[in-house]
Amino acid sequence: MSVKILSITLLLLSVCLCFHAAAARRNPSRSRLCCIEVTTLNMSAEVVGETYRKQAAAHPCVKAVIFNTDYGKLCADPKAQWVKNLVANMTKV
Ligand SMILES: *[C@@H]1O[C@H](CO)[C@@H](O)[C@H](O)[C@H]1NC(C)=O
Ligand SMILES: *[C@@H]1O[C@H](CO)[C@@H](O)[C@H](O)[C@H]1NC(C)=O
Repeated sequence: MSVKILSITLLLLSVCLCFHAAAARRNPSRSRLCCIEVTTLNMSAEVVGETYRKQAAAHPCVKAVIFNTDYGKLCADPKAQWVKNLVANMTKV
């Protein structure tokens, strides 16, 4: 039970830390939310759905794999083993 609570807390933290608005001043049409940080923590248990997105690095955005969770988007490190494991069985959108 407490493990579950801990993992949810970690998840919320990482969602808050990672998913900031990145203002693209020179090109307002591209000022969308993007990942400026990624988590390497194994969040496999929180990922929902069958799809993921990839984000290319474009300062301040970093290279990331974006998963869906019940709480929102999750920015994950493409180099993390748990991310590779999940992505192998998911569809890129
Ligand atoms: C990540 O956690 C899941 C279960 O939550 C586990 O099945 C998986 O083996 C873990 N992956 C790594 C690389 O630790
Ligand atoms: C991924 O898909 C393969 C083939 O469809 C399957 O054998 C494997 O068990 C799946 N792995 C996970 C973690 O769902």
